[in-house]
Amino acid sequence: MILVTGGAGFIGSNFVLDWLGESSEAVVNLDKLTYAGNISNLDALRDDPRHIFIKGDIGDQALVSELLARYRPRAIVHTAAESHVDRSIQGPGEFIRTNINGTFSMLEATRAYWSSLPGAEREDFRFLHMSTDEVYGTLDGADPAFTETTSYQPNSPYAASKAASDHLVRAYHHTYGLPTLTTNCSNNYGPYHFPEKLIPLVIVNALAGKPIPVYGDGQQIRDWLFVSDHCAAIRTVLARGRLGETYNIGGWNERTNLDVVQVLCDMLDLLVPRATGSYREQIVFVQDRPGHDRRYAIDARKLERELGWKPAETFETGIARTVRWYLDHQAWVAQVQSGDYLTWIEENYANRNMEACE
Ligand code: NAD
Ligand code: DAU
Repeated sequence: MILVTGGAGFIGSNFVLDWLGESSEAVVNLDKLTYAGNISNLDALRDDPRHIFIKGDIGDQALVSELLARYRPRAIVHTAAESHVDRSIQGPGEFIRTNINGTFSMLEATRAYWSSLPGAEREDFRFLHMSTDEVYGTLDGADPAFTETTSYQPNSPYAASKAASDHLVRAYHHTYGLPTLTTNCSNNYGPYHFPEKLIPLVIVNALAGKPIPVYGDGQQIRDWLFVSDHCAAIRTVLARGRLGETYNIGGWNERTNLDVVQVLCDMLDLLVPRATGSYREQIVFVQDRPGHDRRYAIDARKLERELGWKPAETFETGIARTVRWYLDHQAWVAQVQSGDYLTWIEENYANRNMEACE
């Protein structure tokens, strides 16, 4: 079996569902169920004995050691993290605790477990660490895309905490020989994306008749990757990645934020038209995110060249699937919009809207 951390989050739950759809190998899923973790994402696995859910903190080294001893996984896919840049600006502490100390604790427990494995099991074991393109910093329009050798220049507390965790993983490979793999991927989108992030927030606010907030001038660029393509890439790297290596994963879909928002409005205009006018009328330009990175772009050629992975979805097909999923899962949307969610939305947007640009 394999151990997945953060398997009730956006990418983690997609990965667990994808894994069990593709393979008969069981998953132990360790997740703290923070505001971002949602066990109902895994409802389809409720009666599936191949899925073992453990509610717990990756920072609890004794718990992780106990789980490793009990289940003896052949691999760990470490996705658990605090993941929202805006939250890291308002309160970085939890990002340090989970992303840095939590990863350290995972590495320590894993090192002890891996060292104790007999020959062949030790040889086959893998620790895959899921990271982000944000560790590379920001690009100007004409700059080449990030490669695996681009220097680290993280700009937000979130990005810095992920960079620190990447360095720890690297050090555990070089120092102790731990069989690690690190992936740095671009912005994911798709089902189960928590509606504090741009794409689901736009869909949810549009349908609710609320303002659609675009930070600054909306000309920041992200490289969008459909989440099931990311899951396939992780399976590929886990199966055949070279030990100690890092692999960039991207969708080859660079878009400005304003373009993404307008595409979503236009799709909703067709699928669920307003009584009058367009959803575009709900777009508001609000005060920018402090330290906002201008452009991310991933060069994913190493992964294609070495392991044969490339994304299956274009932005057009992926965004159509995403919008359809949100329209078909209104109950999920209502469920995740709990009291905590509403408090966050209030805190994040209250002052921005007062300083609206237009
Ligand atoms: P998410 O915020 O949706 O989910 C994170 C999950 O981790 C949640 O289920 C949460 O409960 C769990 N978690 C948080 N702290 C924990 C702790 N201390 N112990 C155990 N579980 C804990 O995140 P996501 O968007 O699915 O991102 C997953 C990973 O991918 C993260 O490492 C993130 O940095 C990375 N990443 C995300 C994106 C993206 O676009 N979403 C892009 C690049 C990299
Ligand atoms: O690049 C990978 C990263 O992508 C991951 O490491 C992070 O975990 C993930 O959250 C995501 O980070 P971003 O900051 O790029 O995602 P977010 O959805 O928060 O914002 C996307 C862009 O949209 C960004 O330029 C900020 C902008 N934005 C965001 C929100 C929430 C808006 O204009 N308005 C908004 O209301």
